Amino acid sequence: MKKILVTGGAGYIGSHTVVRLFESGYSPIIMDNLSNSEPFILDRINKICGSDIPFLQLDCTQQKSYQQVVDNFGSIDGVIHFAAYKAVGESVEKPAQYYQNNIGSLSQLILNLGKMNCGKLVFSSSCTVYGQPNILPVTEKSPIQHAESPYGYTKQVGEELLLSEAKNKKFQSIALRYFNPIGAHPSGLIGELPKGIPNNLLPYITQTGAGIRKELSIFGNDYNTPDGTCIRDFIHVLDLADAHIRALEYMEEHPETSIDFFNIGTGNGNSVLEMVELFEKVSQQKLSYKIAPRRTGDIEKIWADTSIANNVLGWKAKKSIETAVKDAWNWQKNL
Ligand code: UFG
Repeated sequence: MKKILVTGGAGYIGSHTVVRLFESGYSPIIMDNLSNSEPFILDRINKICGSDIPFLQLDCTQQKSYQQVVDNFGSIDGVIHFAAYKAVGESVEKPAQYYQNNIGSLSQLILNLGKMNCGKLVFSSSCTVYGQPNILPVTEKSPIQHAESPYGYTKQVGEELLLSEAKNKKFQSIALRYFNPIGAHPSGLIGELPKGIPNNLLPYITQTGAGIRKELSIFGNDYNTPDGTCIRDFIHVLDLADAHIRALEYMEEHPETSIDFFNIGTGNGNSVLEMVELFEKVSQQKLSYKIAPRRTGDIEKIWADTSIANNVLGWKAKKSIETAVKDAWNWQKNL
C-alpha cells in the first residue's frame, strides 16, 4: 500500500481526503498540529474507515517534524499538502502569520521531500488566484490577477514556488485550484467545523437553520447577476477529495510531468440566494435572512471551466449541490 502523508489531514478537506485515500487502497498518514481542528475528528475518521489511521501531531513549518515522519514510517510515496491558514478576513489582520505559516510550511515540506524519498506533491490552491476573471467560465490559462488578500497571495506564491522548483525536476507536483467546497461525509461523522462565527456561506446557513445563529446576512443583492447576489461554483467536498487521488495517479501515469494546474469545480455557478432556496427545500424550513451591504474583497461571480480537469486529469465532479446541501445539513444536525 502506498504511503501518503496528508498534512492538515484533520481539517475539513483533509479529513474527507484521508477517508477516500483509505477506501481507494492507499495508506494515509495524518500530520496535523490541530491548530484549527478537533481531535474527535480523528476518531470519526477511524470509525468511517474501520481502521486506525496513523496520526502525528506535528507542525509542518518545523524541519524536525519530517525527521519524525521518516523515523516512524520510512519513505513516503506522496504528500498532499492541506495544512494552511485559510480565513481571508483574518489574513488581512495578520498578514505575517499567514506568510510564515502558509509559505513556511510549503517551503519546509519541499526542503524535506528528499529526506522522505518522496517525489510527488499535491498542493491545495484556490480559484482566488484568478481574482475577478474578465471571461467566464475561468480556465487554467486565464490570467493570474492581483490577490485580494494576504491569504490569496500565499496561494499565488505557493504556485510560483512550485513552478520554480519544477524547473529542477526533483519532484512532480500538481496544484489543484479549488472552487467552493461544501457538504460533508454522508455518514454525518465528519464535515466542516468552523471555529466561532463561520465566514463561509454554507456553515452560516446550516448554523442559522439549526438556531445557532439568528439570521444569515446576504452580502449584497445589487451585483450584476440574475438575482443580484454573488455567484460561486459549489462543489461537494468528497468530489474534491477524489481529485487529489486522481492527481496522485496522474503523476504516477505521467512520470514526465513536472507540474500541472487543474480547476476543481463543477462547471456550474449558483447564486447565494439559490443556495438559500436549496437549503429551504432540503431542510423543509424557512431560513431567516436579511440583505446586508457587500462584503469587502468579494468577487461578483466565478465558476470553473472544467474541461482540462475532465479531459486531461480524468476527473469530474459527480455529486449534485442538492446532495451537498443535504449532507451539510445532516452533519450540522448530528453536531
Ligand atoms: N456570503 C454571504 N453571507 C455569509 C457568508 C458568505 O452572503 O454569511 C456570500 C459571500 O458574500 C459570497 C458567497 O456567499 O458571495 C460565498 O462566500 P464564502 O465565504 O462561502 O466563499 P468565498 O467565495 O468568499 O471564499 C472562497 C473560499 C476561500 C477563498 C475564496 C477566494 O472559501 O478559501 O473563495 O475568493 F479564498
